Amino acid sequence: MDKIPFWEETYRNRDINAFSAEPNGTILEFEHLLRKDAVILEAGCGEGQNVRYLAKKGYSDIDAFDLSEAGISKLHWICEREGLQINAFTDDLAKFQFAKSYDLVMTFATLCFVEKDKWKHFIEDAKEHTKPNGIHIIHTFTNTVPTSPDIAPFAVGLADEGEIKDLYSDWEVLQFKTYVFDDEHPGVPKHQHAVNKLVVRKTGSYEIVNGTEYKEANVPPCLLIQTNRQAFAISLLPIIILHMSEYFRIIPPLNANSLYYAL
Ligand SMILES: C[S@@+](CC[C@H](N)C(=O)[O-])C[C@H]1O[C@@H](n2cnc3c(N)ncnc32)[C@H](O)[C@@H]1O
Repeated sequence: MDKIPFWEETYRNRDINAFSAEPNGTILEFEHLLRKDAVILEAGCGEGQNVRYLAKKGYSDIDAFDLSEAGISKLHWICEREGLQINAFTDDLAKFQFAKSYDLVMTFATLCFVEKDKWKHFIEDAKEHTKPNGIHIIHTFTNTVPTSPDIAPFAVGLADEGEIKDLYSDWEVLQFKTYVFDDEHPGVPKHQHAVNKLVVRKTGSYEIVNGTEYKEANVPPCLLIQTNRQAFAISLLPIIILHMSEYFRIIPPLNANSLYYAL
């Protein structure tokens, strides 16, 4: 018989939390960047501690999926009891089809259970289906430490160190953390997981297609200053330097005469 991941058993038990009752701390850290009408997706939500937290905070457009029927069934049960509005469904990250664009896409400790080419395809698709200034929070296990026995049979897609960050070279990196932590579960000896955690924002210049779909716009570089804050700041530099030089009299004040002599 195929081995069943340890979380399946805890998803079936409604008296305990499979992982944590609390949302991941990175959500608390970056929540201030979300508008209240944010459209949110969690891939591999398990029993949903992250999306439940966001639903309680008033976010009402939340999609969340997981491969585990037991996990989603538990999440439905909790939502019903607590009166939470979350669109939770079973789906496979390796085959997920985006039907809309999101302001926040997040996934925690899930990508490594999907083959690498498939989770990379998911990330590419998620990037395309993210609204301008949208955020991704990606937490994934890496192959920096030996794979622990609890996940070894299932961890078919462990990331190389920094690999996830490379997929976002065209986005603004708000945070990148790499660390190893000690873990323990019933029946599994103490072990370690290595993690890459990335928070990124979609920046650049965009156009709206059909009202809802967003595509990178094909605009001349000078127009990028409208939406690219870094480029905008750089474009202001010559003006600031010119004003400072005038103030300190490094160059004569700019007037018709000085311009005439300069020419
Ligand atoms: C270690 S648990 C983490 C659960 C949750 N993200 C958390 O942080 O508490 C891994 C989760 O990934 C889910 N998972 C594994 N393969 C998946 C796939 N192909 N598509 C969607 N979810 C998957 C499992 O069912 C499980 O809920």
